[in-house]
Amino acid sequence: MTDLLMSRRHFLAGTGALGLMPCVSFAASPAALTAQIAHIQLAPDGYPVTEAYTYGSQFPGPMIRAKQGERIARELVNDLPVPTSVHWHGIRIDNAMDGVAGLTQEAVLPKARFTYDFAVPDAGTYWYHAHINSMEQVARGLYGPLIIDEVNAPDVDRDEVLMLDDWRLDPETAQIDPDFDFPMDRSHAGRYGNLIGTNGRYGYRLSARRGERLRLRLINAANARIFGLTFQGLTGWTVALDGMPLATPEPVDSEIVLAPAQRIDLIVDVTAAEGEEAMILRFDDDEKWRAQVGFDLSGIKAIRDTAPAPLPPNPGMETVNLARATQLEMRMEGGAMGNMPMGRMNGQMMGFREMVSGGMYWTLAGVAGMDETPFARLSLGEHVRLKLTNDTIFPHAMHLHGQHFREISDGKQGPMRDTLLSLPAETTEIAFVANNPGKWLFHCHMLGHAATGMTTWIEVA
Ligand code: C2O
Ligand code: CU
Repeated sequence: MTDLLMSRRHFLAGTGALGLMPCVSFAASPAALTAQIAHIQLAPDGYPVTEAYTYGSQFPGPMIRAKQGERIARELVNDLPVPTSVHWHGIRIDNAMDGVAGLTQEAVLPKARFTYDFAVPDAGTYWYHAHINSMEQVARGLYGPLIIDEVNAPDVDRDEVLMLDDWRLDPETAQIDPDFDFPMDRSHAGRYGNLIGTNGRYGYRLSARRGERLRLRLINAANARIFGLTFQGLTGWTVALDGMPLATPEPVDSEIVLAPAQRIDLIVDVTAAEGEEAMILRFDDDEKWRAQVGFDLSGIKAIRDTAPAPLPPNPGMETVNLARATQLEMRMEGGAMGNMPMGRMNGQMMGFREMVSGGMYWTLAGVAGMDETPFARLSLGEHVRLKLTNDTIFPHAMHLHGQHFREISDGKQGPMRDTLLSLPAETTEIAFVANNPGKWLFHCHMLGHAATGMTTWIEVA
């Protein structure tokens, strides 16, 4: 058994386990969301269980689900030995509930509690995760799905959440590698795992009937891994990105790319014929396609003969007035094998070597890590365009809290997103309307990068 976890290449076939995630409903007084240590069978059956940080002893945490326009209330109870907080990723909520310790709230200390209570204006697929030392806490398991249902649900036979992740486990003990400070991860592509799974399981499988129409909500919860995915025996459309519906569902005819923290909502028909398999495949590190999610197929049902209808738009999905937008620019610099920028760190200009000895490897607009001064102060309702130049040799998944943006290319405004994949040496431009007041982070969701320089913030007032 010692060699099995050595390499992800050994994880070929799936083990049959149907994961069921309970739906937690909420009552008048907020239900508890307890952050606690639990032991989870992450590695295949026959391996030891893994000690994880969990919400309510579940990995991923319990599905938190509400209807669009309702409120969500949860009391975070911290039974961990470390301070924590919960961020509700992608949902446009009240700034005080955003969960960023040190910016929007105090850290929730061990044994302490904090009540999150907010209205959910948008339908779609979101997630929640720890936002203190998130590089470690998310890698240890502090995340779960946050699903907001449309008032009128689309016509599908079932709705499934698939949270993709990779874990770096000791090959013998199946324990999570505790070296979160490893400089090689922080200064390069980030912390990758050696075991890749879905919904807290290696070799995750779903049951479906041939001919059924499924809504699949894919969430990339990994620290740094960019998933490249494709289908077999499934015919699908993209209906939403990062929770926000597309105006027209788009047939999936090429590889789906899902950067850390990004979500994609797909509607897929199970088109595998009798005797054929259906699966979601990922492009693996050795450049082979491998099963990420398998399907146990049964029965047969007539395939619907029409493409899915678009999901209803969320409120305030306005396009940006590019002509009157404030133009901002941000250069991302640093990392291994890049130029070695000077940076402002803790309010002082420093050379790159000095930055590195202080634990920082990256800069955003010349600043390494959180600064007292925000990257931009915007007035409520201001239209903004932000040109992002990736002057590093690594990809980055840039996430804006509190509002969605659109990528602009050739003057056209793309779909709304909250996390943008920026490729090495690429310049991209995003635009948004700053319509949510507060202090909002803008950071790389490769969490080791966020911890070592790639975190800044904007203020909307
Ligand atoms: Cu999903 Cu600041 O995070
Ligand atoms: Cu990054």
